[in-house]
This record gives sequence, structure tokens and C-alpha cells, in this order.
Amino acid sequence: MANRINLNQTSFHGAGAINEIANEAKIRGFKKAFVCSDPDLIKFGVTSKVTDVLENAGLEYEIYSDIKANPTIENVKNGVEKFKASGADYIIAIGGGSSMDTAKAIGIIIANPEFEDVRSLEGTAPTKNPCVPTIAVPTTAGTAAEVTINYVITDVERKRKFVCVDPHDMPIIAVVDPDMMSSMPKGLTASTGMDALTHAIEGYITKGAWEMTDMFHLKAIEIIAKSLRGAVENTKEGREGMALGQYIAGMGFSNVGLGIAHSMAHTLGAVYDTPHGVACAMMLPIVMNYNKETTGEKYREIARAMGVEGVDNMSVEEYREAAINAVRKLSADVGIPEKLEAIKEEDLDFLAESTCADACAPGNPRDIDVENAKALFREIM
Ligand SMILES: NC(=O)c1ccc[n+]([C@@H]2O[C@H](COP(=O)([O-])OP(=O)(O)OC[C@H]3O[C@@H](n4cnc5c(N)ncnc54)[C@H](O)[C@@H]3O)[C@@H](O)[C@H]2O)c1
Ligand SMILES: [Fe+2]
Repeated sequence: MANRINLNQTSFHGAGAINEIANEAKIRGFKKAFVCSDPDLIKFGVTSKVTDVLENAGLEYEIYSDIKANPTIENVKNGVEKFKASGADYIIAIGGGSSMDTAKAIGIIIANPEFEDVRSLEGTAPTKNPCVPTIAVPTTAGTAAEVTINYVITDVERKRKFVCVDPHDMPIIAVVDPDMMSSMPKGLTASTGMDALTHAIEGYITKGAWEMTDMFHLKAIEIIAKSLRGAVENTKEGREGMALGQYIAGMGFSNVGLGIAHSMAHTLGAVYDTPHGVACAMMLPIVMNYNKETTGEKYREIARAMGVEGVDNMSVEEYREAAINAVRKLSADVGIPEKLEAIKEEDLDFLAESTCADACAPGNPRDIDVENAKALFREIM
């Protein structure tokens, strides 16, 4: 089968990029924006950086903000009703993965109403039409949802997060402006940045990886390893690097898949509402260790991209260890904890079964079963 690559039609990068939104909306003849953003972003004046641009250009919009972190089926359903009543003809998603993923699901259902129950979108649903035209403006440097064909929704009733993979949800325009990310507090910068690193590393070692996606992932690892500490300190270079690095990771993993660090993070998010990036960061070195025998020479390149010196003179065991240690060190330096106290022994069966059933699990280079998944969860208890 041929390798497939899906990317945005257009993307803008760099400080001040949000000013391009008005022009793009006008060129494309859009009349009214349905702005999806979460309540905190509105409160902290992040959303208004973009709505000010719309107002100054005389462009009409309406805000939808019934969106929680780890967004739910209900957030999507309410948004669909609000969109229908709004008279909007395009969507602007402003936020982290939660706002962008909710916007994607709304845009897909508006264009494909037979999926209005939301649950039927899980996996690779056979939608027929592209979503409502969407401009995505990330405010975290993590998920890269602005350039991925994925979105993740939480099923509160069944205590699970489900991944939807559908090229029809691709935003036509991504506006990746580091100034939109500068208000992130340290902890959020660290965890979302580690999510991006997890995308780059899992995407690089996933079963479907190939030459072009390797190029994206290795570059992303290099940029993220160089930039994350600075971003946590809110330096200009750090923010710029993370904005770009997370996007490049998205160009890769969206097209080839991830692995079980993500499966485990989805499960922890659904059961304990653990922030996605924190869960990814905790699981990444543990999962790298679990996968190491199945990755050939790849950990040498990961170690090199992480900035480890002398990798060409290392034995297989040495460079594998070096890659894992470099990830552990970055995670510790940016303040990610190693243990998740919320996990209870009696939940382990459910957590492990959910992990094995997750859409990202088949992409992991080493197979996973319930017993192995339980052992991996025990390492963060
Ligand atoms: N679509 C994809 O490809 C993809 C990939 C990975 C993860 N995800 C999903 O994305 C979600 C996580 O997204 P996220 O990690 O970006 O965080 P998020 O969108 O859940 O936001 C977390 C919190 O950070 C706040 N915040 C965001 N930007 C801010 C800023 N600039 N300043 C101050 N506060 C800010 C938000 O208001 C919110 O309270 C999860 O549901 C995860 O499963 C999606
Ligand atoms: Fe992620």
C-alpha cells in the first residue's frame, strides 16, 4: 500500500501570525466565524488576541466555550446545536488540543450529520464530507491538533477516551503563533511540551514509520530537546522552538500513528482526568524501555537528536540507555513528577484492558497484553 501524507492547505508560523487570519477569512469569502475556545482562555485574554483581529477587520463571530480539558461527548453535542443556530460558515479553533478537538468533532458532524451520536466517529469512521472549513490556532505547544487528522473525545459514561482518525477533519489553515503560547504557566508548558516529544518519539518508532516521517520526527525531537527548557522559562527562542517543533512532530505522527505511551495516557485521562501531557511524560521513558529491543538502530538517532554526545562510539545497550536517560532528564528538568498517586490497585485490570483496546496500541513496535500493561502502570504507582 502507498504511504499517505495529509497536511494543512496553508500554515502560518512565527510571532504575529494571527494577523493573517483576517486576510485569509476575507480571501476565502467567509462571513461568520464560530469560535471554539475554553473558559480559561477567555478569562485570561488569550482568545481575545484573535477575536480582536476579527473585530478590527469588521469580521463577525460568535464564541462557543462549553469545552473542558479532555473534552466530552456532551461538549461536542452542545457545540453542534450552537453551531446550527449561529449562522456561521467557518470555525476558528483557539486553544489547546481540547478546544481544537472539540471544534473538529463539531465540524465533522455538521458536514456528516449521520454521525451525530459522536461515538460512531471512533476509529476510522467512513465520513463522506470534509468538515466545516476550520482555522486552527494552537495556544499550547503540544498536541499539534492543528495539523493532525486526529481528535480525541472522552466518553464519560464508559470512562474512556476514544481516538478518531479522519482526513476530513484536517483544518484548512493552521496559525502557529508562539505569542499565543506565551501565557502558559510553567507546568502546562512542560507537560504539553513532553506530549510533543512523545509524539515525535512514538511516531519515529511506530510500525508504519517511513523515510519522510522519520525526517519530521527526528527534526522535531532535536528542536524540542533544544527548546523545551527555555520555553518553560518563557524565553522567546524557547517558545518559538516549541511552536515549530510540536507542529513538525504533528506533520509526522498524524500520518503514521503513535504507540502505547499514548494508549496509557488516554486511559489515565479518561479514568482520573490526568492532563494528557503529564500522562504522556510519565509513560514515555517507561514505554521506551519496554520497546527498546524492537527498534533496531533507532535509539541511536533519538539519543543524537536529544543532544547526547559520542553516540557513534556507543554499543547498542549504551545508546539505548542514553536515549532513555536523556528523555528522563529532560522530563525531570522541566518538573514532571514520576509517580501518579491517583492510580489504585483495583483499577489496574480496567486500565490495562483499556490500553490494549486503544486505537494507538496496534502502532506500538512491541505488542502489548494486559499483564505487560499492568506491569508498566505499576512503574508509576
Ligand atoms: N488531535 C490530536 O492529534 C491530539 C494529539 C494529542 C493530544 N490530544 C488531546 O488534546 C487534549 C489536551 O490538549 P492540551 O494538552 O493542548 O491542553 P488543553 O487544551 O486540555 O488545555 C489544558 C488547560 O490549559 C489551558 N491553556 C491552554 N493554552 C493556554 C495558554 N496559552 N495560556 C494559559 N492557559 C492555557 C486551558 O485553558 C486548559 O485549562 C487531550 O484531550 C488529548 O487527548 C489531541
Ligand atoms: Fe499526545
